[in-house]
Amino acid sequence: ERTAGSDRPVLAVDQGTSGTKALVVCPERGVIGSGEAPVRPRHLPGGLVEVDPAELLSSVVDAGRRALADAGEPVAAVGLANQGETVLAWDPRTGEPLTDALVWQDRRAESVCAELAPHADELRHLTGLPLDPYFAAPKMAWIRRHLTRHGVVTTSDSWLVHRLTGAYVTDAATAGRTQLLDLDTVGWSPRALDLYGLADERLPRVVDAAGPVGTTTAFGPELPLTGLLVDQQAALLAQDVTEPGSAKCTYGTGAFLLAQTGSRPLRGASGLVSCVAWRLAGESSYCLDGQVYTAASAVRWLTDLGVLTGAEDLDPVGSAVPDTGGVTFVPALAGLAAPWWRGDVRGSLTGLGLDTTPGHLVRALCEGIAAQVAELADAAAADLGALLKSLRVDGGLTRSALLMQTQADLLQLPVEVSALPDVTALGAAAVARIGLDPALPVGDAIPAWRPAAVYEPRISAASAAERLEGFRAAVATLVERPVS
Ligand code: G3P
Repeated sequence: ERTAGSDRPVLAVDQGTSGTKALVVCPERGVIGSGEAPVRPRHLPGGLVEVDPAELLSSVVDAGRRALADAGEPVAAVGLANQGETVLAWDPRTGEPLTDALVWQDRRAESVCAELAPHADELRHLTGLPLDPYFAAPKMAWIRRHLTRHGVVTTSDSWLVHRLTGAYVTDAATAGRTQLLDLDTVGWSPRALDLYGLADERLPRVVDAAGPVGTTTAFGPELPLTGLLVDQQAALLAQDVTEPGSAKCTYGTGAFLLAQTGSRPLRGASGLVSCVAWRLAGESSYCLDGQVYTAASAVRWLTDLGVLTGAEDLDPVGSAVPDTGGVTFVPALAGLAAPWWRGDVRGSLTGLGLDTTPGHLVRALCEGIAAQVAELADAAAADLGALLKSLRVDGGLTRSALLMQTQADLLQLPVEVSALPDVTALGAAAVARIGLDPALPVGDAIPAWRPAAVYEPRISAASAAERLEGFRAAVATLVERPVS
């Protein structure tokens, strides 16, 4: 018999790059309420991406309150999923931000990474992460050097949780996105802190994904916060990707492919990140992680240029033509992550002609995103030593049949779209429920997995290989002659 309210609804909040989504999740009836609030990061020259921290907090509170009002029922606890590598400095006495938040896509900490290049291998072995300004530690060091020496400098989750509850914590998986966490001990690494010049920092306590953190009245009634998990890992949990040879990809602002690797870290040779999937009851599990920095943000970019009216336009516009018309788009608008790790390169559009139409550009964008995900799947298979059998997918862009079919074609694997939207929030709900009742098995905390659609490959392996080769050649041009 379950105790402590784990059979009651919980409020799950997914604080993402472009918005916050909140769900009220009932173990018996599923999602019984939802709310959203937008977040507007600023894209500035030089690869800078920042956001007002107050906007992050107000979006959490607004989305959470809307979901509770929509459900019209009390909840037992709150769970929070957060964007992983977004960093700010703040005053721990007042909770006031001292800087804007540097969003995970921000490239300004390239200079910190360049200085640390002689220690890249050591840092990679210690933390599982390559040197790249995507991660939190380079941004933390950059803030310390260029913006302020005051207060604390942390990922956005620690600040949000402090504002909500007064606690000063981060979950093990978010800490694993900093490049300051020892991958084996899952504690802060004195050596990594020293290399980054962050040895004197007051760091948040690293906590499990599930467990009582504190209480908050931000959503109205006093509620315990019992679940904390970085967003991609929350989606991995809710997608129930546990079988060897399976992986998930979430198509949000970026696209992130993760595969669980079990209770020991797998330091692969294919360029993927090796990191903590989650820590529950003191036991860590690990995953491989590959990133496409711009997915929905590349769609937004085409929209800002006037080629599309929005993501819902991908299929109607792309369907007007049968193929890319010879256009190749490497949508590396914020650099290339795994397996290339070339944050300094920028995107390219080649093969344009007077006959190029918006449809060709849309198809080339879908192909560019899907080809990068296919590279990540290949890398994961190489590290796992087993071919992937399928890919479970979620996120807003999975509504595009064009993108999903292109993905299945290039992967040469079935692409299984989750029937449940907002999988990340469901992962936050799961850890919040386990936090209420530590005896609840993970399998009982997550929703039963079922696909809304399965896309099977419709082209031959030879055609897929040829198209991927074309994409790789376009990437090679960028990587060999970087645009800096
Ligand atoms: O690592 C960045 C990731 O946490 C952001 O997720 O959903 O905002 O693209 P999303």
